[in-house]
Formats: sequence, C-alpha cells, structure tokens
Amino acid sequence: MTITTTLGTALITGASSGLGAIYADRLAARGYHLILVARRIERLDALAATLAGKYGVEVRTIGADLSLPADLQRVAEELSSNAGITMLVNNAGVSTMGQVATTSRQAIAAMDAVNVTALTTLTYAALPAFLQRDRGAIVNIGSVLSFHVLPTSTVYSGTKGYVMNFTRGLQQEVAGTGVTVQLVLPASTATEIWELSGVPLTQLDPATVMAAEDCVDAALAGLDQGELVTLPSVEDQALWEQFDAARLALFAGAMRCKPASRYGVK
Ligand SMILES: NC(=O)c1ccc[n+]([C@@H]2O[C@H](COP(=O)([O-])OP(=O)(O)OC[C@H]3O[C@@H](n4cnc5c(N)ncnc54)[C@H](OP(=O)(O)O)[C@@H]3O)[C@@H](O)[C@H]2O)c1
Repeated sequence: MTITTTLGTALITGASSGLGAIYADRLAARGYHLILVARRIERLDALAATLAGKYGVEVRTIGADLSLPADLQRVAEELSSNAGITMLVNNAGVSTMGQVATTSRQAIAAMDAVNVTALTTLTYAALPAFLQRDRGAIVNIGSVLSFHVLPTSTVYSGTKGYVMNFTRGLQQEVAGTGVTVQLVLPASTATEIWELSGVPLTQLDPATVMAAEDCVDAALAGLDQGELVTLPSVEDQALWEQFDAARLALFAGAMRCKPASRYGVK
C-alpha cells in the first residue's frame, strides 16, 4: 500500500550505489516519495522495489547518463515540470585520481560533465519552482577535496571546489526564503567510487574511512539542524569557522586599489 505524504518527492542522482542509495533508503524511511537517477537502471529498479515494499512510498526510476546532454535534459525537465518534487539531492559524482598529464581526456570530461555541469543544470532546473513555491531543499555533495587538493586530485578537487563555491553562492541567493541549500563535504567514505577512481579502499587507513550509512545519517542530521555546511567527519566545528573566517579576511584584504608594497610598483 502506498502511503500519503506531505513531504513530497525527493529526486536523488547517483542512487544506484554508495551515498545515493543510502539517501534513498533514509528519505523513503522519512516518508518521501522518490525519483532515483543513474545509469545502472537494473540496480535502480531493484532498489525501487525494495524501498516501495519496505516503506510504502512511490519510487520511480530514470535511467540517465548525466554526462550526455539529452539524458541530462530529460532529468532537468522532470525537475522543472514535476510540482511534487520538494528535494533534489545532487549526489552523482565521478572521480579519476591521477596526474592531469596522464589522465585520459574522457575521464577529465566525465568529471566535468557529472560533477559540475549536471549538478548546475539540475539545480537550475529545480530552483525557480522551489523559489516560486517558497519550499524545497537542494543538497549538493561536495567533498573535503572541495577545499584541499592533492597532486592526484587536481581535476576532481577542481570540480568539487566548484560545487563548494556554487553552493555557497546559492545559499546567499536563497537566504530569507523557504528554500534550503545544504553543502555536504564528506571525507573518505566506503563506496564504490574508490575502486572506480583507481585507488582501492584497501590502500586507505581504515581509521580514516567512514561507513556510507554514517555519512548520510550525519548529513541528514545536519540538514535537520539547519546547517548550511555539513562536514560529517569533522569533530571540531571551529575548524570550518576558522577556515571561513580566513577566507573572508583574505577577501577583505584584497579589496585595495594599489598593488601590495612587496611588488615595488610605484
Ligand atoms: N566515497 C567517498 O569517499 C566520497 C568522499 C567525498 C565525496 N564523495 C562524493 O559523494 C558522491 C557519491 O559518491 P559515492 O561515494 O557514493 O560513489 P559511488 O558509489 O561510485 O556512487 C556514484 C553514483 O553516481 C552515479 N553516476 C556516476 N556517473 C554517472 C553518470 N554519468 N550519469 C548518472 N549517474 C552517474 C553512479 O551511478 P551509475 O554508475 O549507475 O550511473 C552512482 O550511483 C559523489 O559526488 C562523490 O564525489 C564521495
């Protein structure tokens, strides 16, 4: 039997594995109807059947390769035309670790297309309706590599840095409305992305790797608490506040009409 819900429908990208599949479970448990998006439709359909049976919510699936403009457009049209959608979880992401010069052009293009273009396009599709209804939540999954870069994460960090700045800008745009935009910055989490990225999970110190369930549960708790930026693994919240304060101070320090004296420009 299908339940009646006032929560509406959550559209989750990348729901065929990892964090996206856990978001699907947790949001269904809360009573959201779901639209699940990814390429592996058989996985989505199996998850949809399980969640519909377990929680009595409606679950639809959309098989889409978000790196392909036509597929992305189909999902964007669902977001802009389906008035029942109240939440967008921009979770789909790809990572290929390696140095720029030796990474394939296709791998770089895929990171750009999924992590940046798809996230932006889907946000752009959902936002006007959310603002018009003065209701809705957008959850964008960044990474601790949004604010850090390793010699093997140059492109991935670049895309996730975009997610951070894009999301923080949106938060300023929607301030004072009924629309919520959350930035989630996970650290290492046990999902398939590691194997796909070329760095097997077995190469990581287990003490630094979070379970996907814990990551999503913390992220949703952060959303419930009204956090704009959620760092599931960071114990000391002051670290983020210091980082943000340093960013603001640097920006303020750059607002001068003259070159700094160390450059000797008269
Ligand atoms: N795991 C970590 O350590 C970690 C840390 C920080 C941030 N993150 C971020 O968390 C998010 C979720 O990743 P995950 O760790 O859960 O990895 P995952 O298990 O590999 O899941 C990635 C999801 O994205 C989907 N996806 C990838 N390419 C796609 C495409 N072209 N079109 C449509 N869907 C696509 C995949 O589905 P299909 O393959 O079926 O299309 C899959 O459902 C990503 O944004 C990732 O960058 C992960």
